[in-house]
Amino acid sequence: MTDFENHPTAAEVLEGVDLTGRTALVTGGYSGIGPATVAALSKAGARVLVPARRPDEARSVLADVERVEVGEMDLSDQGSVAAYAQTLVDDGTHVDIVINSAGIMATPEIRTPEGWELQFATNHLGHYALVNRLWPLLDGGARVVSVSSGGHHLGDIRWDDPWFTLGYDKWEAYGQSKTANALFAVHLDEVGKMHGVRAFSLHPGAILTPLGRHLQAEDLDKVMVYDEQGELVLPPFKTPEQGAATSVWAATASGLDEHGGRYLEDVAVAVAAPDVVVRAAENIGVKDYAQDPAAAARLWAWSAQLTGVDAFAQKSA
Ligand SMILES: NC(=O)c1ccc[n+]([C@@H]2O[C@H](COP(=O)([O-])OP(=O)(O)OC[C@H]3O[C@@H](n4cnc5c(N)ncnc54)[C@H](OP(=O)(O)O)[C@@H]3O)[C@@H](O)[C@H]2O)c1
Repeated sequence: MTDFENHPTAAEVLEGVDLTGRTALVTGGYSGIGPATVAALSKAGARVLVPARRPDEARSVLADVERVEVGEMDLSDQGSVAAYAQTLVDDGTHVDIVINSAGIMATPEIRTPEGWELQFATNHLGHYALVNRLWPLLDGGARVVSVSSGGHHLGDIRWDDPWFTLGYDKWEAYGQSKTANALFAVHLDEVGKMHGVRAFSLHPGAILTPLGRHLQAEDLDKVMVYDEQGELVLPPFKTPEQGAATSVWAATASGLDEHGGRYLEDVAVAVAAPDVVVRAAENIGVKDYAQDPAAAARLWAWSAQLTGVDAFAQKSA
């Protein structure tokens, strides 16, 4: 399936790929693995749209990257997502690649004005609404890439208490949102493939980025493992350029169509996760619950109800 050994960079994955005339959109394109994702797409010739909740910061970070257009969008604010998407719909440009890289992790308990838990609202519902609103621009051959995480091992969708009314757990909330990212790709691929739109989710690897800004000392136990000499054993950290590799591979690799909807890892289709409880640092592979088509359809229907958007409401009825 893949010719890449070890951990290639995004630029290496895109060597020989010509994206001239193509338009890509990368959420979170100005922090962590985002700038490397944007730079690699741009280097391959693409125009890259970067919606940002801090547009000035995005412009500054991406100042040296060609063909980048920064917009304003806060994923936790459905009105902001709708307004940004509308500017693109009004513009009418076909969007060939969407990489949903933005995310937050292990935040304190915060609610949106709707009462939604913030990690689910940002990581899943914001991206759900964005892609559905952009659907008229994607129809006919686009790829949508959902940056999930090995953190999906930390939690399935909590169908009985998705909003943590019985007590908040920041890691379970992150896990739920990352499982949602994977299930989103499963259902989008199912309904999108008849229009030539394919979707994938992925774990980018472990990369030291500002994503960890909410971590406390005790959390490091969950995400890092040391040996008796105090040397870091897990996780094997990647550079941001290596962390961006699976995203651009998912967005462009021609041989991937037969794996539509699947969860990817290390520039390959992920294996099934071992059925044991492990620490986040050891999470490899994909849990069955994050690839389940019935759960994906259920999540889609619920997300449509919450956000009031569903590009496929009539087509898939
Ligand atoms: N780093 C890792 O080890 C790792 C491992 C597994 C999965 N992931 C996943 O990879 C993705 C990227 O992570 P990263 O490490 O690159 O994180 P990062 O450096 O923190 O970047 C996240 C980006 O998301 C943006 N963002 C957050 N909330 C937003 C909102 N409400 N509206 C719009 N944009 C928002 C951030 O904007 P601001 O800068 O303005 O906050 C930032 O640009 C995430 O989805 C994460 O779950 C990362």
